[in-house]
Amino acid sequence: MNEHGNPAAAAGALHLGDLIVRRMGFGAMRVTTDGSDIWGPPADPRTAKLLLHRALELGINFFDTADSYGPHASESFIAETLYPYPEGLVIGTKGGVVRPSRRRWDPDGRPEHLRRALDGSLKRLRLERVDLYQLHAPDPQVPFADSVGVLAEAQRAGKIRHLGLSNVSVTQLEAARRIAPIASVQNQYNLENRKSEDVLKACERLGVAFIPWYPLGDGAALRSRGLKGLARRLGLPPAQVALAWLLARSPVMLPIPGTASIAHLEENTAAATLRIPPEDLAALN
Ligand SMILES: NC(=O)c1ccc[n+]([C@@H]2O[C@H](COP(=O)([O-])OP(=O)(O)OC[C@H]3O[C@@H](n4cnc5c(N)ncnc54)[C@H](OP(=O)(O)O)[C@@H]3O)[C@@H](O)[C@H]2O)c1
Repeated sequence: MNEHGNPAAAAGALHLGDLIVRRMGFGAMRVTTDGSDIWGPPADPRTAKLLLHRALELGINFFDTADSYGPHASESFIAETLYPYPEGLVIGTKGGVVRPSRRRWDPDGRPEHLRRALDGSLKRLRLERVDLYQLHAPDPQVPFADSVGVLAEAQRAGKIRHLGLSNVSVTQLEAARRIAPIASVQNQYNLENRKSEDVLKACERLGVAFIPWYPLGDGAALRSRGLKGLARRLGLPPAQVALAWLLARSPVMLPIPGTASIAHLEENTAAATLRIPPEDLAALN
């Protein structure tokens, strides 16, 4: 298939453990609602279904979700729309954050919660084993080793294929690796926020996939002056240049841009096909 039929393939691929995924994924957080609270089922289910199918058509084979998106709505909607899943689709979900109300995202890394959360995700996603299960965030009230430990136990029991972490430091990544193999880290990272540069470098060194959340800075990175100037000069949409910059930044980078718009999904995925001169992208460094 050529780049027009399968643009995500142009991003190349990386390993998530023994799985191989294209380096342009899909963030499925925004299929829940059109609003910013990530609460409730899709406002426009018809478009949301078309969006998920279009992501597959574009060659995307990694979808990122979490039990807290909706809550539960993103996972349920993915299963309702795509089950039985096409060969090669890798779904990564997360547990360890709860939503007592639409504005709250509270960490809950207690082993008893994580056991229940994983079982809930498996049920909603209609899976016996999830390909990638990520600890959504360390819980300051719970020893980190206890949260990772219970997920390692679930992996040994066959419920998790690969373990990932999210919102962690290099020290936490190293601590987790002493308990179980870690396939990925998902931290905030974009043109405007590079606080996790050290974690990205550690992932590169260790051969761990780095999944930048807010790859477009929730839209804010698109307003950066340098980006807007370069995009204008190249005649490209800023989102495409921002994603091309991420892809060029590291071979372990696996962006998961989120959108509720099919036009934006197409635009974002096409970023993988761009051949922007490295010196132009380096000017954004
Ligand atoms: N691990 C964590 O703690 C964590 C936290 C947040 C997010 N995530 C994950 O990261 C994924 C991506 O994050 P995100 O969706 O919050 O942020 P994002 O990808 O940085 O940005 C999404 C925002 O940008 C807009 N957008 C998307 N494509 C665009 C384009 N081509 N042109 C202009 N605007 C565009 C979207 O609006 P439209 O809908 O109008 O396109 C939306 O408002 C999520 O889906 C989720 O899977 C993880």
